[in-house]
Amino acid sequence: MPLRGICSCSFGILYFILNLNSFICPTAGYVLKDCRVTRNTQAICQNHLKTFPNDIPARVTSLDLSGNLISKLNKTDLENVPNLLHLDLRRNLISEIKSGTFVCQISLEALLLNSNRLGKLQEGMFDGLVNLTELSLTSNKIQTVAPAAFKSLTKLKLLDLSHNKLRHLTNILQHTPHLQTLYITANKITHFHSWELSNKSTELISLDLSLNQLMVFRLTADIFPNLTRLDLEDHGNKNHIVWEVNDTSYLSGVSKLDISGVCSSLHGLQEVLETFNSSLMYLRLNNMNDNLEVLINISCKIPSLTSLKVSNNNIKVIRSDMLHLCTNLKELDLGMNKITDISDNSFQSLRQLNILVMKLNRLTSVPYAVRKTGILKLDLSFNNISVLGCDDFANMTRLRILHLSNNHLSVLKNCVFRDVVNLKHLELQNSSITKLNGAFKNNMPNLQVLYLFNNQLTDLGHGEFKALNSLQNLSLQGNKLKTLQKGAFNGLSNLTYLTLESNAITQITNSVFRDLKALKTLNLMSNHIKYTSEKPIPYPPFAELSQLETLLISAQHRRLKSALPQNFLQGLTNLSVLNIRGNELTSLHPHTFNYTPNLNVLYLSANDFRDLPDNLFSPIKKLKGLYISRTNLRSLDFLLHANLTELTFLQVRKNAFSVIREPAMLSLPALVYLDMQGNSFTCNCDNAWFLQWVITNKQTQVSDAYNFECNYPPNLKGRKLLDIDVRSCTVDMEFICYISTACAVIMTIAVSFTHHFLQWHLVYAYYLMLAFLYNSTHKNKRAHQYDAFVSYNANDEGWVLGELLPKLEDEQGWRLCLHHRDFQPGKPIMENITDAIYGSRKTICVVSRDYLESEWCSREIQVASFRLFDEQKDVLILVFLEDIPMQQLSPYYRMRRLLKRQTYLSWSRADAHPDLFWEKLRQALETREHPMGEHLRLTVEDGPPGERPDQ
Ligand SMILES: *[C@@H]1O[C@H](CO)[C@@H](O)[C@H](O)[C@H]1NC(C)=O
Ligand SMILES: *[C@@H]1O[C@H](CO)[C@@H](O)[C@H](O)[C@H]1NC(C)=O
Ligand SMILES: *[C@@H]1O[C@H](CO)[C@@H](O)[C@H](O)[C@H]1NC(C)=O
Ligand SMILES: *[C@@H]1O[C@H](CO)[C@@H](O)[C@H](O)[C@H]1NC(C)=O
Ligand SMILES: *[C@@H]1O[C@H](CO)[C@@H](O)[C@H](O)[C@H]1NC(C)=O
Repeated sequence: MPLRGICSCSFGILYFILNLNSFICPTAGYVLKDCRVTRNTQAICQNHLKTFPNDIPARVTSLDLSGNLISKLNKTDLENVPNLLHLDLRRNLISEIKSGTFVCQISLEALLLNSNRLGKLQEGMFDGLVNLTELSLTSNKIQTVAPAAFKSLTKLKLLDLSHNKLRHLTNILQHTPHLQTLYITANKITHFHSWELSNKSTELISLDLSLNQLMVFRLTADIFPNLTRLDLEDHGNKNHIVWEVNDTSYLSGVSKLDISGVCSSLHGLQEVLETFNSSLMYLRLNNMNDNLEVLINISCKIPSLTSLKVSNNNIKVIRSDMLHLCTNLKELDLGMNKITDISDNSFQSLRQLNILVMKLNRLTSVPYAVRKTGILKLDLSFNNISVLGCDDFANMTRLRILHLSNNHLSVLKNCVFRDVVNLKHLELQNSSITKLNGAFKNNMPNLQVLYLFNNQLTDLGHGEFKALNSLQNLSLQGNKLKTLQKGAFNGLSNLTYLTLESNAITQITNSVFRDLKALKTLNLMSNHIKYTSEKPIPYPPFAELSQLETLLISAQHRRLKSALPQNFLQGLTNLSVLNIRGNELTSLHPHTFNYTPNLNVLYLSANDFRDLPDNLFSPIKKLKGLYISRTNLRSLDFLLHANLTELTFLQVRKNAFSVIREPAMLSLPALVYLDMQGNSFTCNCDNAWFLQWVITNKQTQVSDAYNFECNYPPNLKGRKLLDIDVRSCTVDMEFICYISTACAVIMTIAVSFTHHFLQWHLVYAYYLMLAFLYNSTHKNKRAHQYDAFVSYNANDEGWVLGELLPKLEDEQGWRLCLHHRDFQPGKPIMENITDAIYGSRKTICVVSRDYLESEWCSREIQVASFRLFDEQKDVLILVFLEDIPMQQLSPYYRMRRLLKRQTYLSWSRADAHPDLFWEKLRQALETREHPMGEHLRLTVEDGPPGERPDQ
């Protein structure tokens, strides 16, 4: 034992010397104060920061500081991050950017400063941003742009100044010759004068001047040769716009135009539209209060126009001649009107029409007019359609996409989709459907996506989706399904994605899913599935789903104290992602994951495991991400046996462990991200290794480590773990190690010399010291629980149990303490002995030769005799079972001295008068604590065993 101590201590010294460097200057590790790094080069900081963080590693190229409280950017703030490509500072309180802040950001490509408090764009503010291509300044309070503010931004392509307070456009394009997109939505630019922006040709492709209450649009030079998109949308403007474009060819490249809500006379608008006569393809005419029909006719005369949006125009009826000039339209959006009626021939002349959008109107049935079109996509969502007739989609064989969601369909008919044989995508969600009535049992061989979520379905019939053998995605979430009938999904042999989330399913069986051979994702979250035992079940539900990659079965209701059958996952040989969080599971059978060798990501959070079986994870060696937050885990030691050599992400938030041991962490060689937020830690040397590791390790980022709090010891409660000084802890340990090594070496030498002579004295000294330590901590705290502690050797047990115990406990009524009966299991033996001796008024030593040779008994004598010295009380009663000559007692030096002073009785001489022996013992037990010496009268009466003690 001492030898091992010496060895490990010597290694300790060696280690200490080798590691001296790391103690003296701790190298910058991976842990950041307020940020976390993801994918090695992206940093995200969302921690109510008031200043720019200064510990971002230089390798970071993307920095997200959005949503903090930063109010100012200083010149030195970005010095440590010279490689940024993308900087997001949205939603802060920045009102000032010091000149030169970005001088080193020569790589930065995108800078987002939306939703801050900038009022002026000053000279020098953006200096250095020579590679910037995107600058976003939406929602500030910008009123002016200084002449040289954008001096460095020669590569800028996109500038967003929307929602500010600009009154004119000077100084914006001077230094940004390559700007392609300019957003100035919602400023105060009432007069657009092209010479403010530029006098020579620009590279602008898209210009957004919407919501500026524009009164004047003056274009005096051909500065927009590349412009394809112009947005002039407005509303609430009472002033007619003055439109002056010197030459109609100036805007001849514009193909997308939005003049929604622009206020002008009909003639004025006609003039505007004619400016774009040759090139316009997409036109938005939303919010045109009057003259809509005339405007539509004017627009539709533009031969190039293919897409027209007339939303939000209060249209109630579509008459047959309303669109008759729009023969070239491919896309028509009539959404957000109040359409109730559509004349049967309304769309007849729209022979090119592919897309017809009529969502958010007041239609009560599918308009007959749509049947006469050859459209590919029809959107009738958000109407009041309550019945779908068998002929509603008659002859619409070209239809590919149909949106019928958010109506009030309640029941379907089985004939309703019979003609739409080429339909690929059908949306029927949020439509109060209670019954499918075989609508999908017939001809829909091409349907790939079917949304039926948030309806009122309670049941699925056998073969309900039988005709859908191309279906890949079926969404049934948010219905009221209770049981899944056998064969409900028959025929869905190509289905890859199925969600049944948020239903009321209580049971799943393998006969339900049997046909879904191609299924890759199955979502059963938030149902009522419950098992109560870990025993194997006869038909594991997913036995046939060998292609399944993702299984989500979290948050089952009525889940209190549930269990997972050990073969629940049987058959899922390709499963990669499993989520069983939030199920109040109290344990997992060690065989649970035997069936899923390809598991990559596992969510086990929000259960009540406390401990996990050691070998639970050993079958899933490919695990890369593990989430076990809020599971009351008491330690991370289960990782030791898991052999998770590929685990890169571990989340163990809000658990019950407080000490992280080295072997557990070192058993995860690939770990790069560790999330332990919400745990509290023991802040003493137990965590010294962990603390050091958090700070210095170069591979694993410990998220939010600077906020880890201590909960123990009590005086450090609430302090931050990383503020605890580990160095002192480590150095002290090394120093103690050094000293004790030295001592141990000397002691070993000394011991080997004195072994023969002083062996017992050393042992005694040791126990005396222990007793002394015990005594100094327990003084004054003891009440006597027993009358006597009986110390004896196992070989004398017969006498103790057969003679002593019945006599003293049963006849005389003493309360004795016997080690086999009264010692607390688990407590160190020395502590038990000291507690027993100090918890008893007296100690009876049953002395025999065996006793004297027994180690434990010697300890007992030592402690008891120490108490004798310490308390000046007569506590020892020696009962000799056999005659032991004094010379044989001589090695037991202390025993001899005790004999001279203490009560001793001899059983071997009591043969003749056993009653006298018991009476003497009774008297000895009865004596209260007299000061030493007063009892001598008692001791001599019976005479010592063997020779007289005083010889
Ligand atoms: C600037 O961008 C170009 C291309 O986008 C790139 O090749 C160049 O390396 C960048 N310059 C710096 C300093 O990052
Ligand atoms: C364009 O020319 C006008 C008149 O010559 C001048 O006032 C204006 O400042 C010029 N604009 C630019 C951007 O240089
Ligand atoms: C479908 O088209 C055929 C042939 O063009 C026509 O005879 C039939 O009436 C149409 N059906 C409906 C319901 O419009
Ligand atoms: C099933 O899907 C595969 C690949 O997506 C496709 O090749 C096959 O034709 C589909 N089967 C049916 C019946 O549509
Ligand atoms: C852990 O995995 C490695 C490699 O997969 C293997 O060599 C080693 O024996 C495993 N250890 C245990 C304890 O299973």
